[in-house]
Amino acid sequence: MVVLKLSMGFAACVAVLFAGTAVAQTDNDILNFALNLECLEAEYYSNAVYGYGLNSSTLGSGPGSVGGLKANLSPDLLKIATELANDEINHVTDLRELLGNDAVPCPKMDIGGSFTSLGKAANNVDGFFPYNSDINFLLGAFLFEDVGVTAFHGATPLLVSKSVLNTIAGISPVEAYHAAILRTLLYQKGSDMVTPYNIRVWDFVQGFSNLRGKAGNGKDQGIVVPPADGRDTAYPFANLVPQDGQGLAFSRTPYEVLAIVYGGNATQPGTFYPQGMNGYFR
Ligand SMILES: *[C@@H]1O[C@H](CO)[C@@H](O)[C@H](O)[C@H]1NC(C)=O
Ligand SMILES: *[C@@H]1O[C@H](CO)[C@@H](O)[C@H](O)[C@H]1NC(C)=O
Repeated sequence: MVVLKLSMGFAACVAVLFAGTAVAQTDNDILNFALNLECLEAEYYSNAVYGYGLNSSTLGSGPGSVGGLKANLSPDLLKIATELANDEINHVTDLRELLGNDAVPCPKMDIGGSFTSLGKAANNVDGFFPYNSDINFLLGAFLFEDVGVTAFHGATPLLVSKSVLNTIAGISPVEAYHAAILRTLLYQKGSDMVTPYNIRVWDFVQGFSNLRGKAGNGKDQGIVVPPADGRDTAYPFANLVPQDGQGLAFSRTPYEVLAIVYGGNATQPGTFYPQGMNGYFR
């Protein structure tokens, strides 16, 4: 068994223990893991829609995020993004209420340069930034929403309390609704080019999906089948619902999720969480 320090920023013992596969410790540890993810989602959408992130009480006095901006969105997409933002802010509040004094502060989050580096890693492009167009905003949100769905599915069997399970079972489908909205909107623009790159939307998405799958033990799918390459004339088939072939959503352990959101290595904080998540996971 290995003990790892995840973050120096939080006063309590902040570590992940794992032996082969990650098994979380208590319901509250799992809820705090979910809270870290919700902080990121809320910061992204809140910045994009309102031009500012969570307030200090919702952050639990955490340091907040860097790199976010009010996004340049069309009026229609702004309405959709506003609904997503408010859901995610509410999720942070829901989890803080459930956790009470055991809630961790939101960790430091990078919601600017992290996307640029993922754009480079996934699609070999420079300067990808999620706040400068509708498509870029959808692509940015795509990067984490599917991960959230797999994380909530992975958390479910680890929970003991029925009332905690009930809250997670209420948040989980909302994340899946969000992911489905993003995937559908991206699919409808699938053959457009992501500007200024000469890459179609569905191929750009596939690049992100491949990168997540590489870090997170597979369990990832783009928005079209077969994998998007070389189709000029017709839309390939839609693949709006990532599932395992038996109609079940994919499930990831906290450890697999950490590997994705840290940029490839679950024991090396980076990308979205430059100083690591706050909490105690094993
Ligand atoms: C902080 O934000 C939450 C969620 O939007 C809101 O309910 C709360 O009133 C805000 N608190 C302060 C002190 O502004
Ligand atoms: C992951 O990060 C840890 C801690 O920094 C390091 O020891 C390990 O070599 C890294 N693993 C890989 C595959 O890079």
